[in-house]
Amino acid sequence: MAAPEKLSAKLTLPNGKEATLPVIVGTEDEHAIDIRSLRQDTGYITLDSGYMNTGSTTSAITYLDGEQGILRYRGYPIEELAEQSDFVETSYLLIHGKLPTKAERAAFSTALTRHSLIHEDMHQFFSGYPPTSHPMAVLSAMVTSLSAYYPDSLDRHSPADLHITRLLSKVRTIAAFSYKKSIGQPLMYPKNSLKYCGNFLHMMFAVPSEEFVVNPILEKALNQLLILHADHEQNCSTSTVRMVGSSGANLYAAIAGGILALWGPLHGGANQAVIEMLEEIKASGSDYKKFIDDVKAKRDNRRLMGFGHRVYKNFDPRAKILKKMCDEVLATLGISDPLLDIAKAMEEIALKDDYFVSKKLYPNVDFYSGIIYRALGIPTNMFTVMFALGRLPGWIAHWKEMVEDKDTKIGRPRQIYIGEKVRHYVPVDKR
Ligand code: ACO
Repeated sequence: MAAPEKLSAKLTLPNGKEATLPVIVGTEDEHAIDIRSLRQDTGYITLDSGYMNTGSTTSAITYLDGEQGILRYRGYPIEELAEQSDFVETSYLLIHGKLPTKAERAAFSTALTRHSLIHEDMHQFFSGYPPTSHPMAVLSAMVTSLSAYYPDSLDRHSPADLHITRLLSKVRTIAAFSYKKSIGQPLMYPKNSLKYCGNFLHMMFAVPSEEFVVNPILEKALNQLLILHADHEQNCSTSTVRMVGSSGANLYAAIAGGILALWGPLHGGANQAVIEMLEEIKASGSDYKKFIDDVKAKRDNRRLMGFGHRVYKNFDPRAKILKKMCDEVLATLGISDPLLDIAKAMEEIALKDDYFVSKKLYPNVDFYSGIIYRALGIPTNMFTVMFALGRLPGWIAHWKEMVEDKDTKIGRPRQIYIGEKVRHYVPVDKR
């Protein structure tokens, strides 16, 4: 077979010098200009704040096409995984690059079940936080603390698979414990007879004084929600995980960094912000049209939370699945949520309004996920924790891909300095 033609791009610089830069082509015909030798060859760097046009890595984990609304994990369409897989299997797929065989799947599930407890001493940490603490603060601190309980994680040669299993299993326990603490209920230990998502629901909602039966509708919905959140290539939190990990910091530290990046309302914090926005609209007499007018007028820098995305300039495929799921879950549980009616009415207006259409603002994954979480009984301030739980296998897969890539270098962008030129120190009495 003939070798593929090597493409290149030419760049003419202000001094007339020309640089020839190799072009890299991905499996899905995405093209990138490789500027790795640019500074060395020409003295120039590129400037791209917000990394709108910068690829930070090649990756074989997730493919997304924001114009077409396509999202695939390891080649598998998100729609197929959400419908037919479960969260544990999808996690395996993301981390190990292939769907597990029956035996691999069973072994992976068993390992996750066996590692679900956290060190008893860690229970005291939960008591140290005020009950009003945001669970994301608790989660990030607890994940960092895991590295203190597993100091072998500081050794870069210790087996990554063991830490990966621990994290995937224990983050679920930590998330549920932080909720239990916040409402003053006793911590519920994990139950080995339950599956990953069922066990989480048990730790969240069971109490020692009565029997708890996992509702299969809620378990399926939770599996689907977590699958939809499981990876999204080089987003803000995943890039943070890669950045922290690139320094050689341990897996727990890298994931804690990702959790903190996810917390912001422009990223994973948007699911909480959507519900708060809908509640505010409801409390003010459901005048969503006025809210949309305020957004369009940029009054108080308002945004329609749950709308818009850095890469999707068409429908977010996850939002499509979630909208359908939202109707199904609420109907099956016999719940009618006035916030859903407001959300649907706002979506209908926004999809026809020139402000949103011209800026290509469509509902994103967070627009409907909060309404489903509410139906599952999950409180609003836990929504971003749920996102973190879902995104965990993606973060882990990227960390693993990065540490296994021999071309990985410490993440260290450059800058163009625009401050003062050299000036000399003046003693305080002469200023
Ligand atoms: N409501 C109203 N206007 C918006 C919105 C929105 N939700 N999103 C973007 N815009 C407008 C901006 O004001 C800007 O207008 P301008 O050109 O007149 O200045 C234009 O659209 C482009 O916006 P940017 O912020 O430059 O777009 P960017 O790609 O940087 O931002 C982001 C993407 C952060 C997601 C943005 O759309 C947003 O803030 N959305 C609301 C928060 C949200 O839902 N975040 C979750 C994203 S999904 C996730 O992380 C899981």
